[in-house]
Amino acid sequence: MPDQSGGCCRCCFSFIFTLGLTALFVWLSLRTSNPKCTIRSFYLPALNRTLNDTKNTTVFVTLRLGNTNKDKGVYYDAVNLTFRLQPNATGIPVATYAVPRFYQGHKKTATKKVAVGPQEGLNWTAVSSGVYPNGSAIFRVDLATDVRFKLMFWRTKRHRLNVGADVLVNDSGGKVNRKDIKLSAAPDHHLIGFFSGQISIEAVKAVTWSHWTTSLPCNT
Ligand SMILES: *[C@@H]1O[C@H](CO)[C@@H](O)[C@H](O)[C@H]1NC(C)=O
Ligand SMILES: *[C@@H]1O[C@H](CO)[C@@H](O)[C@H](O)[C@H]1NC(C)=O
Ligand SMILES: *[C@@H]1O[C@H](CO)[C@@H](O)[C@H](O)[C@H]1NC(C)=O
Ligand SMILES: *[C@@H]1O[C@H](CO)[C@@H](O)[C@H](O)[C@H]1NC(C)=O
Ligand SMILES: *[C@@H]1O[C@H](CO)[C@@H](O)[C@H](O)[C@H]1NC(C)=O
Ligand SMILES: *[C@@H]1O[C@H](CO)[C@@H](O)[C@H](O)[C@H]1NC(C)=O
Ligand SMILES: *[C@@H]1O[C@H](CO)[C@@H](O)[C@H](O)[C@H]1NC(C)=O
Ligand SMILES: *[C@@H]1O[C@H](CO)[C@@H](O)[C@H](O)[C@H]1NC(C)=O
Repeated sequence: MPDQSGGCCRCCFSFIFTLGLTALFVWLSLRTSNPKCTIRSFYLPALNRTLNDTKNTTVFVTLRLGNTNKDKGVYYDAVNLTFRLQPNATGIPVATYAVPRFYQGHKKTATKKVAVGPQEGLNWTAVSSGVYPNGSAIFRVDLATDVRFKLMFWRTKRHRLNVGADVLVNDSGGKVNRKDIKLSAAPDHHLIGFFSGQISIEAVKAVTWSHWTTSLPCNT
C-alpha cells in the first residue's frame, strides 16, 4: 500500500517540521538582548582651565540606557557607576554613584542626568593628582547592574550587566569625543556573546534539519 505509507511518512515529517518551527518560535520569543549603555555628556567644571576656578568639583554625566528588545520590558536594579582615573584603572575609585532602580518599556531609552560631587564622595585630591600636564584626564567609567526582562506573563532571572569605557576629558573639562561613548563589556564577558551565538547556530541547525527531513524521499 504505497499511498498509505506515503501519507504516514508525510504526516510524520510535517510533525517534525512543526516541532522545529515551534522550537524556533519559542527561542525567538524568549531571546533577550542586554540594554545598550552610552555616555552622552561628561563635564567636570574644575578641569575647565578657561574658568580658572577649581572649586566646582562636581562631575556632570548624561547616561543613556536603551532597551533594544522589541517586545520585552526591562527592570533595572540600582545602576552602580564607578569612576577611576587612567592609567590606574585598577586603583581605588575617585567617585561612585548609584542610579535608583527603575522599569523601562520595550524599545525605550532612558536619559539619566547624574551629578557626582564632594557630597556624593568625589575625591578631588585624587582626581587632580591624575590630571596630565596638558590639562587632560582619562576617566575609566564602569557600570554594574542586574536586569530582569519582562516577558508576557513573567519576569526572567537577574542578568548581570558589567560594562565600561574610557572617557578622555581635555582642558575644557568636557569629553573630547563628540559622539556618544559606548560602554562595552570587558573581554571575559565576550563569552556570553559566544554562547548566545552558539544558541542561534543550534536554532538554524534545527530548522535546516526539519527542512531536510521533510524533503527526504519516502521509500518505506
Ligand atoms: C586666575 O585666577 C587667579 C586667582 O583667582 C588670578 O590671579 C589669575 O590672574 C587668573 N588667571 C587668568 C588667566 O584669568
Ligand atoms: C557647577 O557647574 C555647573 C555646570 O556649569 C553649574 O550648573 C553649577 O551651578 C556649578 N556649581 C557651583 C557650586 O558653582
Ligand atoms: C594604582 O593604584 C593602587 C591602589 O590604589 C596603588 O597601590 C598603585 O600604586 C597605583 N599605581 C600607579 C601606577 O599609580
Ligand atoms: C582621596 O585620594 C587621596 C589620594 O589618592 C587619598 O590619599 C585620600 O585618602 C582619599 N580621600 C578619601 C576620603 O578617600
Ligand atoms: C594630554 O596628554 C595625555 C598623556 O600624554 C594624552 O593621552 C592626551 O591625548 C593629551 N591631550 C590632548 C588634548 O592632547
Ligand atoms: C550596586 O551597589 C549596591 C550597594 O552597594 C549593591 O548592593 C549591589 O549589589 C550593586 N550591584 C551590582 C550589580 O554590583
Ligand atoms: C569651559 O568654560 C568656558 C567659559 O565659561 C565655556 O565657554 C565652555 O563651554 C566650558 N567648557 C565646557 C566643556 O563646557
Ligand atoms: C576640548 O574638546 C572639545 C570637544 O571635543 C573641543 O570643542 C575643544 O576645542 C577642546 N579644547 C581644546 C583646548 O583642545
